[in-house]
Amino acid sequence: MIKPEAMAAGHAGKVLDMILSAGFRLVSLKYTRLSEAEAGKFYEVHKERGFYRELVEYMASGPVLAAILEKDNAVQDFRKLIGSTDPAEAAEGTIRKRFAESKAKNAVHGSDSDENAAIEGAFFFTTREQY
Ligand code: CMP
Repeated sequence: MIKPEAMAAGHAGKVLDMILSAGFRLVSLKYTRLSEAEAGKFYEVHKERGFYRELVEYMASGPVLAAILEKDNAVQDFRKLIGSTDPAEAAEGTIRKRFAESKAKNAVHGSDSDENAAIEGAFFFTTREQY
């Protein structure tokens, strides 16, 4: 998912280009906006964390671009491409190094396991929207 601040800054095209150039195949793509309730559900695993409220409000603050991506070793390779959660710690050449504003407004989200990728994919897309 490309997050609200990166969308508002007009980075969507460049971020998608980096993703496709890294060899990911686009299975699904959707321009949409989460309500606070939906953002709260998406990030439910973090609900006990101090930053949860801020995260939910931010994720509902503007449109996002949600995608399902396919590649061998996709979860690990995507996390490598996006870089560390905190852009100050993200490696050169990563999406977050280039586009993230802060640890909270960090430009992109990537699933942390195949299991969560399936859950998060189903959150945004019906089976008919997955090619
Ligand atoms: P993401 O990879 O989408 O997964 C959880 C999100 O919570 C993370 O990116 C950040 O946007 C946000 N997040 C994680 N840690 C912090 C933090 N310490 N302060 C604020 N936001 C955070």
